[in-house]
Amino acid sequence: MDGVRRTALITGITGQDGSHLASLLHDKGYRVFGLIRGQHNPRRADVERDLPFVELLEGDVTDPASLVRAVEDSQPDELYNFAAISHVGYSFKHPTLTMEVTGKGVLNVLEAIRLSGLSTKTRMYQASTSEMFGGVDYAVPTTGYTEESPFHPRSPYGVAKLYGHWIAKNYRESYGMFVVCGLLFNHEGERRGTEFVTRKITRAVARISLGLQDTVSLGVLWPKRDWGYAGDYVRGIWMMMQHDQPDDFVLATGTARSIEDFLTAAFARIGVEDWRPYVSFDPAQTRAAEVDNLFGDSSKAQEVLGWRREVDFDGLVTRMVAHDLDQQRTLNGLASPLPPEAHPPHPVQT
Ligand code: GDD
Repeated sequence: MDGVRRTALITGITGQDGSHLASLLHDKGYRVFGLIRGQHNPRRADVERDLPFVELLEGDVTDPASLVRAVEDSQPDELYNFAAISHVGYSFKHPTLTMEVTGKGVLNVLEAIRLSGLSTKTRMYQASTSEMFGGVDYAVPTTGYTEESPFHPRSPYGVAKLYGHWIAKNYRESYGMFVVCGLLFNHEGERRGTEFVTRKITRAVARISLGLQDTVSLGVLWPKRDWGYAGDYVRGIWMMMQHDQPDDFVLATGTARSIEDFLTAAFARIGVEDWRPYVSFDPAQTRAAEVDNLFGDSSKAQEVLGWRREVDFDGLVTRMVAHDLDQQRTLNGLASPLPPEAHPPHPVQT
């Protein structure tokens, strides 16, 4: 840093990316504000415990006045907009609310920066998503979706995100604001919510291994996703915001794997080769329209920003299962196995 302490405001501070980014910015010496929703938000206590350095401001992306207040109070150099209804399945059940939060919320954030007179000071990151591509088969480029690929969202969530993406670009072009859009493919990890398929699986695998549950119910297993590690992606987001020009960047690993592949890898970590006896089908987890196959090409972020991911697919699954085993042991008062170095070495046979 240049000696002046920078300030960031994060909306969606209770989510996975907000949490990772708050830690990263704090380590870099930023003053970090987080926007938190509601009078009695049950997740407030989690943020206060896990991210005690974050200064919480009450507000909601659907409430423009609260955003203006938050922006004026924090005077951020960088504003990261992660606030969204982010569960694709949920968006089919609550499409109007999804548009209000995930779509129009972006406009409200942009306007709050403008109305506060901070359009030349505050850089903004908009969390765009691979769900905007939709994965309609004929359109999947062989090397993965890029910043130039056509969009075809397949859910109310994807459509709302596409509005957010275009209004963010529009404010960049119309008012010269520094607005960055990150087109992130799926990114997972130990801070992922258990409503998403990877963490649902790793938590279940841990509990099955510890005898705490027998099976896990899932929807369809054939869709393919490009799964990376959230910590790597949040580092990429920060790099986008430090670039000299506001731009759009894809972050992805370039490899698509099915949910079956993820199950195989996760169950292998507990020594189970055939996971089928442990998995049942839950039609409630299926969606009115599915995205079959998503994978991205992050060449631009690698070339322009020098971004690299450090955790590969196997590393991701290993750390998620290991974390969930530890967490389930702690939550259920089960003894942890001795670490390898705690075992006395076998006597040397002479
Ligand atoms: N959540 C969930 N739960 N998904 C399931 C289940 C289940 O029990 N069973 C099968 N799936 C399938 C879904 O149908 C989908 O094809 C795939 O697993 C992944 O679902 P999610 O983990 O919910 O993620 P997503 O790909 O729909 O969306 C995530 O990634 C996007 C791209 O980064 C979310 O984080 C989005 O907010 C994000 O934009």
